[in-house]
Amino acid sequence: MGHDVHIRHVSDGDWSGIVALEASAYTDSALSEERAALESRAHASPATCFVLDFEQQIAGYLLALPYPMFQYPDLSRMEETIFHSRNLHLHDLVIGESFRGRGLAKRLLHHLTVTAGSKMYERISLIAVGGSETFWSANEYKAHHEVALPRSYGADAVYMSKAV
Ligand SMILES: CC(C)(COP(=O)(O)OP(=O)(O)OC[C@H]1O[C@@H](n2cnc3c(N)ncnc32)[C@H](O)[C@@H]1OP(=O)(O)O)[C@@H](O)C(=O)NCCC(=O)NCCS
Repeated sequence: MGHDVHIRHVSDGDWSGIVALEASAYTDSALSEERAALESRAHASPATCFVLDFEQQIAGYLLALPYPMFQYPDLSRMEETIFHSRNLHLHDLVIGESFRGRGLAKRLLHHLTVTAGSKMYERISLIAVGGSETFWSANEYKAHHEVALPRSYGADAVYMSKAV
């Protein structure tokens, strides 16, 4: 299946697929965002947001946008400011359940790192949610346990980053 899945930029027709994946990934938590908020993350930085396309079906997505280090989106609000920063914040990554465990997240992350380098970003940050810190550590992100995060990201959220 891996060869039939390709990475491309997000287009307008992708949003119902993205919203469905997002809702199913975060359905048991308070992390799920409104569609308008999700769309605003991608509109802030279309060049660093991607979907995995499998036979015209959205198998996964990754949304990243510039944010100064140690700042991050407010989950309850749309983006109002477009930051100019050498830090790219990986806001969300979801792989559809039936596509997990095949290295597709790793593939999207590699694509993001290459894209970030070509656009002169120096670091990539993220907030690990839902107990995913070990997944991110395995993908070279280092935890900044000293950074306090709002409860909206969940009690176990951890700010992490890596050099590009
Ligand atoms: C986390 C997620 C993106 C991984 O996608 P994937 O395509 O299955 O990942 P890969 O195939 O590249 O890597 C799989 C590896 O990650 C590990 N892994 C997957 N999810 C994990 C998690 N939540 N915590 C720790 N490890 C995890 C798997 O055990 C596997 O390990 P292995 O290679 O040692 O067998 C996917 O499970 C997902 O979309 N989850 C829901 C949304 C989410 O939690 N996003 C990240 C939080 S911001």
